[in-house]
Amino acid sequence: MDEAFPRSHPDIYDQIGRGYAGNRVPDPRIAARIWQALGDARRICNIGAGAGSYEPADREVIAVEPSAVMLAQRPQGSASAIQGAAEALPLADRSVDAAISLRVLMHATDWRRCLAELCRVARWRVIVDFPARASFAALESGGRRAAAALGRRTEPYRVMAEADVRAAFAANGYRVVDVRRQFVLPIAFHKILSSAPATSRIERGLAAIGLLRLLGSPVTMVAER
Ligand SMILES: C[S@@+](CC[C@H](N)C(=O)[O-])C[C@H]1O[C@@H](n2cnc3c(N)ncnc32)[C@H](O)[C@@H]1O
Repeated sequence: MDEAFPRSHPDIYDQIGRGYAGNRVPDPRIAARIWQALGDARRICNIGAGAGSYEPADREVIAVEPSAVMLAQRPQGSASAIQGAAEALPLADRSVDAAISLRVLMHATDWRRCLAELCRVARWRVIVDFPARASFAALESGGRRAAAALGRRTEPYRVMAEADVRAAFAANGYRVVDVRRQFVLPIAFHKILSSAPATSRIERGLAAIGLLRLLGSPVTMVAER
């Protein structure tokens, strides 16, 4: 069982979330995968929506986000948003075709409860992502959690085992239909490298020798019922 985070993460995003929208650069390949995974779902909820990254503009979207600081960064004209937490979604059972929740389970106080809520409100599919336990992210996660425990202003997060997330989906009546891993080397390394062609070349090489499958992170998982 995971230990709960010591304090609620929406509070943390009210402290550290300023300027988030400017730093979060959506990756077109991930956007394409999410679009594909949404299939012909028309009504979607985006949980822990933040400033709205990866929200499709061509469908009905309901955004749910606990932090007022993050809500304030949603661009004009973006989907209507409700202030709320993933652990207790203010949405009816099977009220959307698909639920997406990106970079949220890693921060939520109770990720299993959040996943159960995503599964409850979706009629068909749920799409989540998380940093893999078997990845370089585990080192960064340990460092950040130690820094947070010492009172440093940081964004602590947990790493998660693919098997645990699969089991949680199964417990809620869903089966996993797609799993993709993004990078072998830490995202921080690629940010320092600051060259998309070099990142692609290096990561393609690492994938070719099987390291992406073993150590890739973050993991994007699609499940359906
Ligand atoms: C790294 S940001 C990701 C935002 C957005 N999903 C994206 O992909 O850009 C994490 C978000 O999760 C939200 N969050 C943290 N705990 C949450 C919870 N229990 N329920 C819903 N959202 C939560 C934070 O407020 C923050 O907006």
